[in-house]
Amino acid sequence: MSGTADVAVIGAGPVGLAIAWRCAERGMRVVVRDPAPGSGASAVAAGMLAPVAEAYFGEEPLTRLLVGSAARWPRFAADLHAASGMDLGYRAEGTLVVALTGDDLAEAERLWTYQTGLGLPITPLRPAALREREPLLAPRLRGGAYAPGDHQVDPRRLVPALRAALDGAGVPVRPEAVGALSTVDARVVVVAAGCGTAPLTGLPIRPVKGQILRLRAPGGAPPGFLHVIRGYADGRHVYLVPRADGEVVVGATVEERGDCAVTASAVLELLRAAAALLPEIAEYELVEARAGLRPGTPDNAPVLGALPDRPGVIVAAGHYRHGIVLTPVTAELIADLVSTGVPDPALAPFGPGRFLSSRFLRGEADSGWN
Ligand code: GLY
Repeated sequence: MSGTADVAVIGAGPVGLAIAWRCAERGMRVVVRDPAPGSGASAVAAGMLAPVAEAYFGEEPLTRLLVGSAARWPRFAADLHAASGMDLGYRAEGTLVVALTGDDLAEAERLWTYQTGLGLPITPLRPAALREREPLLAPRLRGGAYAPGDHQVDPRRLVPALRAALDGAGVPVRPEAVGALSTVDARVVVVAAGCGTAPLTGLPIRPVKGQILRLRAPGGAPPGFLHVIRGYADGRHVYLVPRADGEVVVGATVEERGDCAVTASAVLELLRAAAALLPEIAEYELVEARAGLRPGTPDNAPVLGALPDRPGVIVAAGHYRHGIVLTPVTAELIADLVSTGVPDPALAPFGPGRFLSSRFLRGEADSGWN
């Protein structure tokens, strides 16, 4: 591409690439810049599309956004399949919440009672009904629930598919770092750089470490279970995500630190909790143990919208534990904002303005304030 782009997207994770793709579909000239495309949180993400099981006390605006984005996922996956020729591994068996002990059940029940109170689809199940759905679950489980609308996708297929769609649309993805937004030549700059958004904008987006495992069922067989399992096991939280190709993702720690070391204790704890719920996985091959950094914000919700003090700069970052599920809604609403200049009302709770005072106090932005 020569000349000034309509839009420069900084960051080539799923969110940035999907914004670029939706902008190109709207007829804009787009360029994406990232020194290491797809190397952020999405490379370790499990791919749970879980607006119900992730609905947490006091996060109702975020829950509304999660529900809205999960509803967009089937169409998004179909559009991307049509544009890229790639299958994203979208699966709709739903999620089982399972509790090992009486204390685990009390904790899980408290959350799903809150979730049903919001009108979200989640149904308590007795142990026999859980094992009817998944016969390999441990016999000593105390109970659980079924969230039929909490689906899954394979995040490692998402970035290649988006890149193929962008190739088809003639959008370049340049392997270049951006040191300061003032150096970017475009009508609108969208900062979708995950944890890298903080140094560019001064917004309080911090790394939150997650350690995650990948297992493989023996002999190339598919895993012996179909649902995503979200477990409570002796006070520990764990999830297991089965893929058709035999992979099982087991995750994840949530640690307030910014290193990517894999620790023996995290591997031990994740495997102990997972095998307590689904004993068969102890026989699976452990093929990967990895750590990544989620871009967290002070209220766990993403930052979506124009920077009030920086004309032409829009932020789409801080997706924390929800980057994959929130990719469709983020891409579509940000592409609409770029093309019309008018924010969709659904963006109102997520504007960067809610964090600007802390940015001011920290004085980190290249905003002309410092
Ligand atoms: N969304 C799952 C995680 O962050 O571990």
